[in-house]
Amino acid sequence: MTAPAPSPQQWAETDHYFEARLLADDPVLAAVMAANQAAGLQAIDVSPLQARFLALMVQIRAARRILEIGTLGGYSAISMARALPDDGVLVTLELDPATAAVAIDNIAAAGLSERITVRVGAALDTLPELEAEAPFDFIFIDADKRNNAVYTQWAVKLARPGSVIIVDNVVRGGAIIDPDKCDPHTAGNRALADMLHNHPQLDATALQTVGVKGWDGFVMAVVR
Ligand code: SAH
Ligand code: DHB
Ligand code: MG
Repeated sequence: MTAPAPSPQQWAETDHYFEARLLADDPVLAAVMAANQAAGLQAIDVSPLQARFLALMVQIRAARRILEIGTLGGYSAISMARALPDDGVLVTLELDPATAAVAIDNIAAAGLSERITVRVGAALDTLPELEAEAPFDFIFIDADKRNNAVYTQWAVKLARPGSVIIVDNVVRGGAIIDPDKCDPHTAGNRALADMLHNHPQLDATALQTVGVKGWDGFVMAVVR
């Protein structure tokens, strides 16, 4: 008899177990989730425990300047920005104006309008405008996965030695190694993995995750 395979439901229940113990009640993030749902945004934010992971990484890096690609309703942006020192800033890029408007409201309600700037437009158009605001010491990439390799190249360009780059959704339920999956998002993640092979400026790893978001993962890199 072999043990039954762990199920997505057990992954989610295990997330809830740790959420209940490790995370305090968070009225700010609860309000963000409620506003996002009311506005009809897709529930594709990072999970509560992942948001804490990002905030801890911001603290460990002692980041002062954060760049995020892919805002949605601002759940991850608010989580990371709250881990910044008082003079820290976060710039987040969002394609869809209506989505950005929800995020801007959520950021205001969180009292973070001074610290977070939302730039509306396709990231490939707004990234070149950010050279004047670089370097960023923490970069979170969480937009259209098909551009993950290009976004990571931009991240390196806008970073400095020691900057941390984290890319979300690089596993996508195992799509990354599934020969039948050749959608543009999977192709983008494979291009990222291939680009990281012997990359001259990046030391990288991949962290697979299970939990309320199913089976997925982050690529994490540090700029040499
Ligand atoms: N980081 C968010 C979730 C982001 S979901 C959180 O955890 O709270 C991905 C977001 O990327 C969506 O809001 C989508 O509109 C945006 N997006 C998709 N393509 C984009 C592009 N080309 N440029 C900028 N944003 C994009
Ligand atoms: C999708 C996007 C995300 O950023 C995510 O975390 C999960 C899913 C998506 O586009 O389906
Ligand atoms: Mg994501």
